[in-house]
Amino acid sequence: MKKGDSRVLIMIRWLAVVVLIFVVFNVYTISRTNYVMTHSMITKSQADTSRSVPKSISHQEKHVTAKDISCNRAHNFYDICSIKGTTVLDPTISTFFQMDPINSSPQKPLVEKIRPYARKWENFTMSRIKEVTLVSGPPITKCQVQHEAPALVFSAGGYTGNFFHEFNDGFIPLFITINTIFPDQDIVLVISKARDWWVSKYSELLRAFSKYPIVNLDNDTSTHCFPSASVGMISHGFMTIDPKLIPNSKTFKHFRAFLHKAYGQNRKVQNHLSVSTPKKSRPILVLLGRSGGVGRLLLNQNEVKLEAEKVGFSVVVFEPKARTPLREAYALVNSSHAMVGIHGAALTHSLFLRPGSVLVQVVPLGAEWVSRVCFEISARAMGIEYMEYRIKAEESSLTEKYSKDEPIIKDPVAFRGKNWSPKIMSIYLKEQNVRLDLVRLREYLKEVYVKAKVFMDKEG
Ligand SMILES: *[C@@H]1O[C@H](CO)[C@@H](O)[C@H](O)[C@H]1NC(C)=O
Ligand SMILES: *[C@@H]1O[C@H](CO)[C@@H](O)[C@H](O)[C@H]1NC(C)=O
Ligand SMILES: *[C@@H]1O[C@H](CO)[C@@H](O)[C@H](O)[C@H]1NC(C)=O
Repeated sequence: MKKGDSRVLIMIRWLAVVVLIFVVFNVYTISRTNYVMTHSMITKSQADTSRSVPKSISHQEKHVTAKDISCNRAHNFYDICSIKGTTVLDPTISTFFQMDPINSSPQKPLVEKIRPYARKWENFTMSRIKEVTLVSGPPITKCQVQHEAPALVFSAGGYTGNFFHEFNDGFIPLFITINTIFPDQDIVLVISKARDWWVSKYSELLRAFSKYPIVNLDNDTSTHCFPSASVGMISHGFMTIDPKLIPNSKTFKHFRAFLHKAYGQNRKVQNHLSVSTPKKSRPILVLLGRSGGVGRLLLNQNEVKLEAEKVGFSVVVFEPKARTPLREAYALVNSSHAMVGIHGAALTHSLFLRPGSVLVQVVPLGAEWVSRVCFEISARAMGIEYMEYRIKAEESSLTEKYSKDEPIIKDPVAFRGKNWSPKIMSIYLKEQNVRLDLVRLREYLKEVYVKAKVFMDKEG
C-alpha cells in the first residue's frame, strides 16, 4: 500500500467494491444496516430539536492557536482531530469545548467538525455517522464528571453488525489509534452508537482497551471534563497495521497479543463449542460452517469433515452466530491447530488463531481479490501458515447454471475486473455454493496436517 496518487485512487475504488460486497451480500449486515440507518435518523432529528452549538462565543474569549485544536484531514481513509489541554464535553450536543486556550486574542472561536469513523471515502456511510464538534472557548455549563484520563472518541455505527467490519472498521483502527496517540496511557472511550448488544458482545475487548466505563455519546446528559481529547480513528487500510506508521512499531502480532490479553487469560471458560475431550494426539481443525440463504455454502460439509478426520484431525464444526460469546469462540480457535473456511465474515475468527497454526481459505470463483485483502494479509502478518484452496470450476455450483466455456466461469478475474457490478457480485458471492472435490482436498489436508502436527508438537 505504498501510495502514488493513482494507486490510492485504485485502492479506494477497490475498497468501495469490498464494501458493497459486505453490504449487499450479508443478510445479517443488511438487517443491521437498516437498523443503523433508522437509528441514526432518529438521533439526528432528536439532535436538531435539542440544544445547538453556539455560533459565536463572547469576544472576551481567548484566541486558540492551531495547536489547541487541530485536525489532520490529509488521509484518504480518515480524519482525526485533537484538543490539547482541558476540555469539557457536552454530550447532548456532541461538542468538546476547549477550556484553557494557550494564546489570547479577541478573535472568533475555532470550530472543527468531524465524523469519527475510518471510512472517509464512503459518503453514504459517513453521512450516517454522528458529527462531533470541537470548539475553542469555555462552555456554558460546568463539568459534572471529572476524568483523569484523556478522551478517545469514535463511532461504533456504520457497518458495525458485521463481524468482519467490527474488526476492520472498529477494533483494528482503535488499536492503531491508541498506539499512535496514547501509547501506554489510560484513556476514556467516548462512543457513539455504543448499543447494548455491541457493548456486551465486546465487553472483554473494551475492558482491555480502557479500564474506565464508556461515556455514551448518544444518551449521556452530564458534562465531562478531560485533560485532553482525540476524536477519530486512524486506519492503515484493509485489515492492515503498518508498524512504520506507529511510533512504537506495533504490528498485527501485537494486535493478536492484545486479543490474548482480552480473552486468553486463564479465566475458566464454560465452553459449549469445543469437543468434550479432544484427543491430545490429534491436531484440532476448526471447520467453519455457513448456513442460510447467504451463498458460499459448503454443500458437502459432512464429507469434508470425514475426510479431515481420515487424514488425522480431530474436527470441530463451528458455525458462529451473532450471539456466540467471543470468549468461547476464542477459547475454541485458540486451542486449535488449523482452520478451514470458505471466504466470508466468519473467517474473521482467524484473528483468534495462534501464530504458527494453519489457515486454509477456500476461495470461490471470483472471490480472489477480496479473499486476499480480507484474510490473507492479516493472517500472514500474524505469523499464521496461510494456505489457499482456490476452487476449480467443477467445484462451483455456478457450473449448473453456466457453461464452463463462458468467461464468467473460465476467467472470473478478467470477467469481474471489467464488469464488476452488484449483479456480478451477486452471482459470485451469493448465488455460488461450493462442493469440494474430496480427492483434491485430501492432498491439501495432508499438507495442512503435517504443518498442524508440527505446530501442535511444539506449542501444544
Ligand atoms: C463525497 O463528498 C465530498 C464532500 O462532500 C465530495 O467532494 C465528493 O465528491 C463526494 N464523493 C462522492 C463519490 O460522491
Ligand atoms: C444509554 O444507552 C445505552 C445503550 O443503549 C444503555 O445501555 C444505557 O443504559 C443508556 N443510558 C442512559 C442513561 O439512558
Ligand atoms: C490460548 O492458548 C494459549 C497457548 O496454548 C493458552 O496458554 C491459553 O490458556 C489459551 N487461552 C484460552 C482462553 O484458551
